[in-house]
Amino acid sequence: MENKTMFHGSDIEKIAQRKGVAPTAIKNFAANVNPLGLSPLATSALKEHMDIMTRYPDRDYGTLRRALASYNHTDHHYILVGNGSTELLSLFIGEVAPKKALILGPTYSEYERELKINNSQFSYYCLAEENQFKLDIPGFLAAIEDDTDLVIICNPNNPTSSGLANSELEQILKRAKEQDCWVLVDETYQEFTKANDSINASLLLTQYDNLLITRGGSKFFAVPGLRFGYALCSNKEMRGIMKGEQNPWSLNSVAAFFAEAMVGDTDYIEQTKALVWSEKIRIADALKNNQSFRLYKAYGNFFLLKILKKDLTAKMLFDEALEENMMIRICTGMAGLEGEYIRFGILSPEDNDRLLALLRRHY
Ligand SMILES: Cc1ncc(COP(=O)(O)O)c(C=O)c1O
Repeated sequence: MENKTMFHGSDIEKIAQRKGVAPTAIKNFAANVNPLGLSPLATSALKEHMDIMTRYPDRDYGTLRRALASYNHTDHHYILVGNGSTELLSLFIGEVAPKKALILGPTYSEYERELKINNSQFSYYCLAEENQFKLDIPGFLAAIEDDTDLVIICNPNNPTSSGLANSELEQILKRAKEQDCWVLVDETYQEFTKANDSINASLLLTQYDNLLITRGGSKFFAVPGLRFGYALCSNKEMRGIMKGEQNPWSLNSVAAFFAEAMVGDTDYIEQTKALVWSEKIRIADALKNNQSFRLYKAYGNFFLLKILKKDLTAKMLFDEALEENMMIRICTGMAGLEGEYIRFGILSPEDNDRLLALLRRHY
């Protein structure tokens, strides 16, 4: 299976250059970043402390890890910070160096890239469109073979925006633990879910030492350029090995300072959730019951949409959107997705209305 997608959400500069406009002129529906922008509290704190750049960060990131522990209601010993969750995914997969990995697909392509770097064998178990991308747990459990040594799950999953409740995840963790198999859960989009969705693997950390969770600030806190991420893991040995492999000060002092302040900005956190949740309902409502598109339930801050209308392709919608200075993500050709698909993130109500108007022209 091969990922043939084009243009990541971070390719906005390339696209803007091609169009001859400033990158800021294009509304980026492709990057799944919080439309509220930066935390005001962290921004003003940083303005007062620019001299943070003149110092090395604390090697152990003690105060940041304590702030993250409080934000995640967990133990600060379980936390390892890094240069985006990407650094931690890479360190972890490199350390496990699995002989045989199982990936829940269709999903984010970075896991596959890391597995290839480590010469690992891997296969996908794909969520089925006819089940609305809801996981068939018995089928997935059966796909974990006796010699599978790593299972990778993105939850909520990119690009399907589907979610796996803790009760479901626990069945996978149990099965994996029986055979010393690691489970990597990428929870980059976790904060966009609701408490009653029960998507929060951190609650399972103490019970399962074969679990490593990655989270970060790029999406929920709108700081993809800051490159701040962290891993949660109760396995002391694994944390020690990863820390030992990591370059010292891999998270810079500005990022460490800003991250510590932003996770304490409760007003901003609440505003973000309120905006994303209300827009999610409004968009789902606007796109229901039509012959041209099928929208799936979204646990993340983005939607996957299937194009049903004959002769309309994802590339045509991408080009149309770009004409109106909007960038969406083409998902056609992505490993495990059959048919024409696009993905779009939730932006401000005004921006979302512009995209909805474009889609409605195809009803
Ligand atoms: C599922 C998923 N995980 C990880 C990342 C990268 O996260 P970070 O910016 O924290 O490295 C992305 C970015 O698109 C993503 O979609």
